[in-house]
Amino acid sequence: MKALVLNGVNLGRLGTREPGVYGSTTHPELVAMCERAGTELGVEVEVRQTDDEGEMVRWLHEAADAGWPVVLNAGAWTHYSIAIRDAAAQLRDDLVELHISNVHRREPFRHTSYLSDVATAVVAGFGVRGYPLALRWLAERTG
Ligand code: DQA
Repeated sequence: MKALVLNGVNLGRLGTREPGVYGSTTHPELVAMCERAGTELGVEVEVRQTDDEGEMVRWLHEAADAGWPVVLNAGAWTHYSIAIRDAAAQLRDDLVELHISNVHRREPFRHTSYLSDVATAVVAGFGVRGYPLALRWLAERTG
């Protein structure tokens, strides 16, 4: 099985971006962590990051056409982008919505998600360790 991990706007800044909220792991370190998890789980994992909403939409179309499951941290797009939601709704395999922080204990505008009701599952508040957790669930979901 192949799984895509898609990180959206501002997530390339991990490590320097508000470390008190998002931790000190950089995006390249996060990629390595996901790839390591993939190797352990026997899942081909590809991690991508973009600050371009159109590019993210195209990646979701690609995953929909290929039938790949997706772990998606859409960053701020989560809270307002109908375009990202509409693209995510086309996925044919599972979608895990992921947030490094616990968005529910943060500002009220982060309590709204345009993704949760098209997602299979939501992971939030586990820090970057949420990524290997989500990948493990994807690997084990059908037994
Ligand atoms: C985030 C939470 C969002 O509210 C925020 O805009 C992000 C990151 C998280 O991983 O906790 O960019 O998705």
